[in-house]
Amino acid sequence: MDPDGSVQDPEDKEYSSVCVGREDDIKKSERMTAVVHDREVVIFYHRGEYHAMDIRCYHSGGPLHLGEIEDFDGRPCIVCPWHKFKITLATGEGLYQSKNPKDPSAKPKWCSKGIKQRIHRVTVDNGNIYVTLSKEPFKCDSDFYATGDFKVIRSSF
Ligand code: FES
Repeated sequence: MDPDGSVQDPEDKEYSSVCVGREDDIKKSERMTAVVHDREVVIFYHRGEYHAMDIRCYHSGGPLHLGEIEDFDGRPCIVCPWHKFKITLATGEGLYQSKNPKDPSAKPKWCSKGIKQRIHRVTVDNGNIYVTLSKEPFKCDSDFYATGDFKVIRSSF
């Protein structure tokens, strides 16, 4: 609480970038985890690009750093090891397959549920990897497991 009695809205917080490791290391391991401003994230290195997102799956808090990366509809996704939800690395969208009930023989189509997993920015400077937390002012489903009462760092995995 501020001296004037106001409470700062966490959404307004300015986040500085935080160094989470060395480029050489993540290029070997292809993923790493880090705590950035009290928020646990996973960073993937996939096909020459870096992606960071909340570590706990938006569905029920599964450990995304233990999932496999696969392409769906040409989009690289992390597959949550708990219930196999697919989340795009680039945008945090949840993907699902839709079937046309009027045409059961038609091939199922991949559709997006919208952004479900909060994506954070990754930058590289002088061989160091930095993560800057997203300040996007929308309510993202993965916030539920990244903040508040349901936030559990590491000990739950
Ligand atoms: Fe990730 Fe259910 S917790 S799919």
